[in-house]
Amino acid sequence: MLIPAMAFTAALTMASSTLTSPKDRGRELVEDVCTYCHNLERLRGQELSREEWRGLIKGMVSEGAPVTDEEFSLILDYLVKHYGRKH
Ligand code: HEC
Repeated sequence: MLIPAMAFTAALTMASSTLTSPKDRGRELVEDVCTYCHNLERLRGQELSREEWRGLIKGMVSEGAPVTDEEFSLILDYLVKHYGRKH
């Protein structure tokens, strides 16, 4: 009884450390939450700074985007990295 339970726990621990790395979580969240009302074409060519993205995501949250504080910062990091202003 004990051993299968332990193996299950170990598998879960491994899954959560590989599947939910901040990088992948940010991407998942953007692909999931930010396609709720429009597609990701909206994000292309924005090239916003971190502060501008922060303001924009806040605007999306007030439109009704379901984002927690933790998810907010993951989304922000992802957007700044992948849709940030080019230097
Ligand atoms: C609840 C619906 C909803 C969700 C969820 C949502 N958006 Fe939007 N988004 C809108 C609406 C409505 C507009 C058009 C607003 C406007 O044109 O003023 C928009 C427009 C945009 C634009 C274009 C803004 C511009 O000035 O051209 C961007 C970029 C954007 N959204 C990014 C995001 C991101 C990033 C997310 C995920 C965090 C997201 N949206 C989630 C409703 C949503």
